[in-house]
Amino acid sequence: MDFKDFDLASFTPDFEEIERKRQETLEWTRTTLHRGDAFVDRIARGDPITFNTLSLPAWLKIAELAAIDFIPAREIHSMPTQIIQDFDPGEGSGPYEIEEQKILSALRKGEMLRMEQVAPAEIKHERSSGQIMGNGTFYSDHFERDILNLFEDRYYTTLLDLAEDQVRAYARPIITPRMINGKFNDEAGKWPEEFRVYIRDGHIKGVSNYYPQVVMTPQEHGNVMAEAVRAAQDMVNFMIEKKITCDNATYRMPEGETFSCTLDFLIREDGKLLFLEGGPEGGRGAHPCCFLGPDGFKSDLEGAVFSEDGEVYPLEHLLAGRLEETPAPT
Ligand SMILES: Nc1ncnc2c1ncn2[C@@H]1O[C@H](COP(=O)(O)OP(=O)(O)OP(=O)(O)O)[C@@H](O)[C@H]1O
Ligand SMILES: [Mg+2]
Repeated sequence: MDFKDFDLASFTPDFEEIERKRQETLEWTRTTLHRGDAFVDRIARGDPITFNTLSLPAWLKIAELAAIDFIPAREIHSMPTQIIQDFDPGEGSGPYEIEEQKILSALRKGEMLRMEQVAPAEIKHERSSGQIMGNGTFYSDHFERDILNLFEDRYYTTLLDLAEDQVRAYARPIITPRMINGKFNDEAGKWPEEFRVYIRDGHIKGVSNYYPQVVMTPQEHGNVMAEAVRAAQDMVNFMIEKKITCDNATYRMPEGETFSCTLDFLIREDGKLLFLEGGPEGGRGAHPCCFLGPDGFKSDLEGAVFSEDGEVYPLEHLLAGRLEETPAPT
């Protein structure tokens, strides 16, 4: 059907079909994917592993086993996903609010909340606008207390994508990153020095400055960007060697592919590279960062890119430290 012929006024969602599909993704996840705490035993037995591409603890386990420095996360709460599905705002203090309190009270000073598949919207908002980052919770004038926001669009849609039976909350120490000055909507701000590495079918294809709000340069950031690519390569090599792949009920891997994903790294204020998190493939759930310039895509997420307006350099030149002598054609 052509979209312009779509009659929104008479459209009624087929809730039974939506629920059937949701149950199908939950069942696929249950029967196909392994959780991070099963990795060590499976590796010892030589058994293959497939983990959820959207799961933070699974990625952190890969980093740990591949000896890559990472920002840790401790699980502070787990509750059935059904509690979120069944939440009824009209009912007042119900099962959800009891669980929410448990998460809020487990979070310590100096820690931030990270849900299994995404950071809370407050963190994303503060970071994208270059403001000071909080801990992922916020004070509600309406409820007159701190709350979490697990009912905003991004959290809820990624929860469906994650397709796990449990909603899991993690506490991560807030790291002070090395910051770069930049602009967002003409307002000055500061953003972390951060990189996203793009992996397609088991191969590193590209790397970008994560925050298009700031301009990185090959001269100043080439070496750390190359360090991020090498750390990503160590993780990829480890996965291939140990027969580990990632997959997800929503972003299913095409038949015969090794694995595709993105890996994010942050530079701490003392210059140390830390693995932050892994996620879905670029363009299939993960943002293209600086590969998306003002005139559209600069490449198929291949090469090294330092700024939204900047050119794309060949990955080999980045790794060989030859960027300055070889400004690349896009
Ligand atoms: N422990 C931490 N200390 C300092 N900054 C952090 C920490 N965790 C996350 N951040 C900052 O918050 C941003 C969002 O966090 P995170 O990457 O976990 O969220 P996300 O939902 O997976 O985002 P996306 O998938 O869009 O990258 C990061 O890009 C990073 O700049
Ligand atoms: Mg992510």
